Amino acid sequence: MDSSDIDLSGKVALITGGGGGIGSAIALNMADMGANIAIIESIPERCEQITELVKQRGRKILALECNVMESDKLREALDAVKKHFGRIDILVNNAGGVAPRKFIDLRESSFRRHIELNLVSTVIASQEAAKLMIENGEGGSIINVSSIEGSRAAPNYAVYAACKAGVNNLTRTLAVELAEHDIRVNTLAPDMTDTPGLRGNLTGPVDESTWIQRSEAQVEGVRRRIPMGRPGIAEECGRVAVFLASNMASYVTGITLPVDGGTWASSGWVRSSNDQWILPPED
Ligand SMILES: NC(=O)c1ccc[n+]([C@@H]2O[C@H](COP(=O)([O-])OP(=O)(O)OC[C@H]3O[C@@H](n4cnc5c(N)ncnc54)[C@H](O)[C@@H]3O)[C@@H](O)[C@H]2O)c1
Repeated sequence: MDSSDIDLSGKVALITGGGGGIGSAIALNMADMGANIAIIESIPERCEQITELVKQRGRKILALECNVMESDKLREALDAVKKHFGRIDILVNNAGGVAPRKFIDLRESSFRRHIELNLVSTVIASQEAAKLMIENGEGGSIINVSSIEGSRAAPNYAVYAACKAGVNNLTRTLAVELAEHDIRVNTLAPDMTDTPGLRGNLTGPVDESTWIQRSEAQVEGVRRRIPMGRPGIAEECGRVAVFLASNMASYVTGITLPVDGGTWASSGWVRSSNDQWILPPED
């Protein structure tokens, strides 16, 4: 093994929702490792921000303003990437999100939007990218960004969690169906990760000065709930995505990899107020 195993030079990586948060961290980490970047992003200011940051790294970028929930526009955007770069080697289905609400109060229009955003867009982009990867005959890597909520019950997030569970299983099936074309399909599943979306910066440019600060009680809650005692940073997903896209993971396909500071492993165990591991409500 040598450093060429993690090198993405000459590859084209397309990242949905690549203008902020986990998506932009993945885009920048892949650019750091040599890839040229295409992003599909709904906020125009973020298209400009990421363009500048990728160019600073000496890579090419095509930033397309597009809402992944509009299926025809999403297909057109993938076609534009094909025309511009002639190839897609890496697809990251990252765009996603949730508006928490009790299941009983969920309106149909809302849960259909969740399904369009978190599941349908992943199916469409994966199908279009896989066709192009097969046409080019050089294999590829599809990486889905799911969530820990896809592997456990998630009160107030029912349909989002169902979509992420769907993404986890889509990953397994596509890994099997596309293996003969040397296309690997994997998922990374974050727990709480500091991003603009998590911190209330949902419109306009990414601007950390606007981010909602956590109270001391919230910081302590995170420390007790997540074994590593802190939220993730977006770049920790970025680095895992680089691994999954690279030759380092050449025999890895069909997995859902937690990037969660140990939350999935802890499976309900939390720190008590005097720092003992307990299963609540004991304290
Ligand atoms: N941040 C977390 O704590 C966390 C935890 C688990 C899973 N995730 C998953 O990670 C992914 C990224 O989340 P994030 O926290 O980085 O979000 P974010 O809101 O910080 O960033 C998402 C980016 O995608 C763009 N985007 C959103 N909807 C879009 C659409 N319809 N079309 C095109 N672009 C769109 C946004 O404008 C933004 O730039 C999501 O799939 C989310 O479900 C996040």
